[in-house]
Amino acid sequence: MWLQGWLLLLPILLGLANIINASTAGNHTLNYEAKTQRILDRATQRIRSIYDMKRRIFLQLTLKGKSPLGGQAPSKLEVEMETYRLLYEVAANLSVVPVEQLSDPLMRRRVQRLSKLQLQGLRPADYEQAKDLLRTMHNFVNGPLVCPGEDCSARKPLAMYPQIMNMNMRTKNYKDLLENWVNWRRTINDKITAKNTFIDYVRLLRIAATYNGHVTPSRTWYLYYDTENFQAELEAVVWEIMPLYRELHGYLRHEVQRAYPKADMKNDGAISAPIMDQILSQDWYSHQFFQTPHPSKEHQLPSVVRRLEEVLVTPVKINKKATEFFESLGLNHMSDGFYDRYARRMNDDEGGPDCKPQVYYFPPDVALRYCPKLDYKKMMQVHGVMCELQYNLYKRNLPFGLDSEPCPGFGNALAETAVLASGTPRHLHRLHILLNESLTEEQSLNRLFRMGVHTLLAVPQYFINDKFLVDVMDGRIVVKDYNCAYWNLQDKYAGVQAPLWRTAKDFDPDFKFYRGLNPETSNTKKFLAEILGFQFYRSFCLASGQYKPGDPKFPLHNCDFYDSKAAGKMIKDMMEFGSTKHWRDIMEIATGERKLSGRGVLEYFAPLFTWLKERNKQLDIEPGWDAEDFCPKE
Ligand SMILES: *[C@@H]1O[C@H](CO)[C@@H](O)[C@H](O)[C@H]1NC(C)=O
Ligand SMILES: *[C@@H]1O[C@H](CO)[C@@H](O)[C@H](O)[C@H]1NC(C)=O
Ligand SMILES: *[C@@H]1O[C@H](CO)[C@@H](O)[C@H](O)[C@H]1NC(C)=O
Ligand SMILES: *[C@@H]1O[C@H](CO)[C@@H](O)[C@H](O)[C@H]1NC(C)=O
Repeated sequence: MWLQGWLLLLPILLGLANIINASTAGNHTLNYEAKTQRILDRATQRIRSIYDMKRRIFLQLTLKGKSPLGGQAPSKLEVEMETYRLLYEVAANLSVVPVEQLSDPLMRRRVQRLSKLQLQGLRPADYEQAKDLLRTMHNFVNGPLVCPGEDCSARKPLAMYPQIMNMNMRTKNYKDLLENWVNWRRTINDKITAKNTFIDYVRLLRIAATYNGHVTPSRTWYLYYDTENFQAELEAVVWEIMPLYRELHGYLRHEVQRAYPKADMKNDGAISAPIMDQILSQDWYSHQFFQTPHPSKEHQLPSVVRRLEEVLVTPVKINKKATEFFESLGLNHMSDGFYDRYARRMNDDEGGPDCKPQVYYFPPDVALRYCPKLDYKKMMQVHGVMCELQYNLYKRNLPFGLDSEPCPGFGNALAETAVLASGTPRHLHRLHILLNESLTEEQSLNRLFRMGVHTLLAVPQYFINDKFLVDVMDGRIVVKDYNCAYWNLQDKYAGVQAPLWRTAKDFDPDFKFYRGLNPETSNTKKFLAEILGFQFYRSFCLASGQYKPGDPKFPLHNCDFYDSKAAGKMIKDMMEFGSTKHWRDIMEIATGERKLSGRGVLEYFAPLFTWLKERNKQLDIEPGWDAEDFCPKE
């Protein structure tokens, strides 16, 4: 009896002790915060050692084998594996932290960002498999796999990119286009079974989603956009710019009939896929055979090559000009020390066909390896790269986990604005490359037309490739319908059709689809960078007074916001936030808007839109096409 009484009292006494403990020694929140801080501190230590590996790689690469720190620098693969292990462990350790109980908002945000992952959330064996599959798909695009004319003895096999793409860009023969189109698809499907690789990869994406507790797998694909049904927001933009797309499509279709009178044209208004690919590949090609609005010689764009070479002389000079662009906005000054220690030229054989400059991030330092090429396109590209450097400088002081862009593509969108501004006649005039700060009306239209082909045709393709993946992932498209569903999307959103009869055995997505399966180069990211880029550009141009709606002297397409401290402040403010806030909160700083919108694109291309509508009317072209359903009815 006596003993029993004590046993009954025991829980009460223990409970009392707990209450006393909570009111004196601390409370749960404090405990969780201390524990979380320990995890984050450990992670910070480890990321520092990864940065150190990156620094050694950069130094080794640029000193041609002489290792300044002794010993062999680690490989890129080692860095990648070490980063994976770190992120995987941190996410696992943080996943038990009850986020709502953390009172420090910055810590809460860090835990939210670090506790959910995409492919890196997979267990080691699965992660390895995902990397393997990505390598295989990369090889579909860049591997020398295709034997022209199916004769593998006569000529070396070619890669889709860049060899076949370059051949397609130049050929004037529809039969060649068609043959290359079919050959590549047949090669990767017969021997390497592209469809199965894709199916395996999607299975892994779905597993990664279950670890995040996402019932709808695309929530993990769109993880950093942190939006319910993000696809709907992307689609809304596609429809917003569709009236302009349809006019351009109608005009191009007319041009296609002229260029390829014998090609098998669809009579319902769509354009054949190999031809559409060719048009897109020719955006920078100087001998486009789809006519610009004013094809006669006097209206051609002034050649800037010679003056560019005279004025900018060396790639180093281009780098300095691009740096100066950002300095004029009031952003970071790049010291001579930076150029001496952290800006290095690539070897001639290194850059590959794109010769893309590379930015290295190992805080407190950032570094650059640049391409030794010298042309108009490189000049614009370097402005984008300098933007990335600036971004890294501004976010490097933020804690690990928040020292990144708020969502994939955000940094590219900012870079896009610098690319657009640096390519304007006004800016080229400032650099003494063009004599006049504006082109004639005809030249200006020709320029917009080229830019339009580049941008407007690409956006629906990003969307289609992204939607196809996401709809498969979420189970809205079943395996037997893969190919017909793909063509339904091409037809509906782009007015593009297969060049010949296709069956369920074929698997026809293009090479950009495979590239976009890697989250780092996803089509979602490219879509966002393009659209948000034009939104930002519009905002910076309005803020700088270089775009005055309604004033023909200051159209959006000739806006150079160089020297605008107002635009610079917006950029700096956004960069400094890193990912401490939702990307919508950050984009709002510049745009006043919280959603993606096609407004920037539409205002930029407004003169082209007007011209296309008039021209199509004159030529009696009815824009648009009749979308079909290619999936067989049950
Ligand atoms: C009181 O808190 C301390 C430190 O948080 C802990 O070690 C101890 O076990 C707690 N005591 C009780 C009775 O819960
Ligand atoms: C626990 O500590 C946190 C952080 O100091 C504080 O915000 C909270 O009010 C405390 N809770 C209790 C019950 O004392
Ligand atoms: C995660 O937790 C494990 C087990 O407590 C520990 O060994 C590891 O160091 C932790 N890792 C990180 C990055 O916090
Ligand atoms: C610059 O272009 C404008 C518009 O085409 C023209 O009116 C002006 O005469 C040109 N100036 C020079 C110096 O060529």
